[in-house]
Amino acid sequence: MNFHLSFLLLEILVFLRAVALNSPPPLTLRPIPSWRKLQFHSRRLSMFFHFGVNTFTDSERGSGHESPSIFNPERLNASQWMEAAQSAGAQLVILTVKHHDGFCLWPSAYTNFSVASSSWRGGKGDVVAEFVAAARERGLDVGFYLSPWDLHESCYGDTLLYNEFYLAQLRELLTGYGPISEVWLDGAKSPTAVNMSYDFELWFDTIHQLQPGANIFSDAGPDIRWVGNEYGEAGQPCWAMANRSSITIGRSDGQYLMSGESAGTDWLPPECDMSIRPGWFWHRNEAPKSLEQLLDVFYKSSARNCLLLLNVPPNSSGLIDESDFQTLERFSSAIDSIFSVNLAANPLSVTASSVRSSSFGPKQILDERMETFWAPMQGESTGWIELDLGKVSKFNALEIREPVNMGQRVKEYHVEAWDSELGWYLVSNGSTIGYRKVDRLEEDQECAARLVRLLIDASRGDPLICFFGLYFDMYNLRHLSSI
Ligand SMILES: *[C@@H]1O[C@H](CO)[C@@H](O)[C@H](O)[C@H]1NC(C)=O
Ligand SMILES: *[C@@H]1O[C@H](CO)[C@@H](O)[C@H](O)[C@H]1NC(C)=O
Ligand SMILES: *[C@@H]1O[C@H](CO)[C@@H](O)[C@H](O)[C@H]1NC(C)=O
Ligand SMILES: *[C@@H]1O[C@H](CO)[C@@H](O)[C@H](O)[C@H]1NC(C)=O
Ligand SMILES: *[C@@H]1O[C@H](CO)[C@@H](O)[C@H](O)[C@H]1NC(C)=O
Ligand SMILES: *[C@@H]1O[C@H](CO)[C@@H](O)[C@H](O)[C@H]1NC(C)=O
Repeated sequence: MNFHLSFLLLEILVFLRAVALNSPPPLTLRPIPSWRKLQFHSRRLSMFFHFGVNTFTDSERGSGHESPSIFNPERLNASQWMEAAQSAGAQLVILTVKHHDGFCLWPSAYTNFSVASSSWRGGKGDVVAEFVAAARERGLDVGFYLSPWDLHESCYGDTLLYNEFYLAQLRELLTGYGPISEVWLDGAKSPTAVNMSYDFELWFDTIHQLQPGANIFSDAGPDIRWVGNEYGEAGQPCWAMANRSSITIGRSDGQYLMSGESAGTDWLPPECDMSIRPGWFWHRNEAPKSLEQLLDVFYKSSARNCLLLLNVPPNSSGLIDESDFQTLERFSSAIDSIFSVNLAANPLSVTASSVRSSSFGPKQILDERMETFWAPMQGESTGWIELDLGKVSKFNALEIREPVNMGQRVKEYHVEAWDSELGWYLVSNGSTIGYRKVDRLEEDQECAARLVRLLIDASRGDPLICFFGLYFDMYNLRHLSSI
């Protein structure tokens, strides 16, 4: 090949490469989630299992003086618990390995107030081991709740001795059962232990040392924050960010936890713990919530940038009650059917106020992937995306997602639909979006439209949207409320 020809070819290659090159994504906006926090976001549901001596004493808070012999779940089958979790769509299961009473569901070397002193499996049983094995068999992630408050342990009240005891138990749990995805802590404390302090920071460091993939949940994180209530409601707005330094474990401000704040310095997404029954533990005379109540909770938690941690307490036989099982199945199939048909999945066209570059076009909102998103021209903090659905479609729920790996941005948005007489009219509006925001329209506000647009009215930086969907929620109609 002669010199001139190869030079020309090189020029052409350089030119083609320049044409094919993408512009880079906009700068991520701090704070951003770590890898393990992104794992947390990606779960659809988590399930909590409150189980222990309270299950046998019809009590919510034990005394610590129960006889271990009352613990005898004769038909215990953790595989059935996991079947329930899976049928509800949960991907993480958390067990109360020790509640405030101090009774340990594993044979701890540091106390005899445990399954080892019970008659269950002849004192040779380990609920934690069975729980973990059953979860792994079905590919579910595992978490533990080890109550800081311990009404049984005699050294409780002595700061040094109790912190040693608690850390020793943590170590048993975090070294003996394989990878753990979440450690769940509350700040509950005996009112008489005024001179004792829990060394939370040391516990957190130890958890991360032993299980680097585990998210730690408490009022104040450090990974996941409590949503501030136990009735399953996240705030509006609901920022993933908050200041850890503004939250005191055990004495936190519920309103702050529900909303977080846009100026928050820490990525601290909220988790909503709520029980399917009135109590956290199983009681013969209690029944699970109705499907309507659970769907309402879904729209107030999972649909507001939050993760629902639904408690389903096993009964004294050691099984999930049939009534809870059926409720979970109905809940999950309702969610599946609401989101089974996305009316915005194949629009005739999608246009936007502006586009950063060709790889950030508005078509990127048609799939749920976080890696593909619409971005407006650099420096714009508002903008819109318009969809022509191709035909008039009836919807009463809409979903929006931000690629939160790039930081949570949107502060205010609204959605409009087009009507030949009304022109553009308001369908729904809100403040934050985050990982997943679903707006349910009021029963009398279902919408029939061909043109729909999402308008971002305010944002912390260039607004980025990775998904937009429209749905028809058939459970939202009064005449079908008996489904
Ligand atoms: C335990 O539960 C699983 C799942 O429901 C079931 O397949 C299995 O047969 C049960 N085992 C026993 C011993 O009942
Ligand atoms: C547990 O240990 C305490 C203190 O050593 C002892 O008094 C008690 O009898 C033991 N209980 C059982 C069931 O072994
Ligand atoms: C807590 O400590 C203070 C100061 O040492 C002491 O006066 C008080 O009696 C202690 N209270 C309890 C409940 O131990
Ligand atoms: C959280 O921290 C940010 C940044 O330092 C600050 O602007 C904000 O006021 C803090 N919020 C609270 C509730 O202290
Ligand atoms: C626990 O649930 C199982 C499954 O529904 C049921 O067969 C059993 O009778 C229940 N046990 C109690 C004590 O209600
Ligand atoms: C939604 O719009 C209404 C009416 O314009 C307004 O009062 C409300 O503050 C808006 N809500 C949000 C979250 O922007």
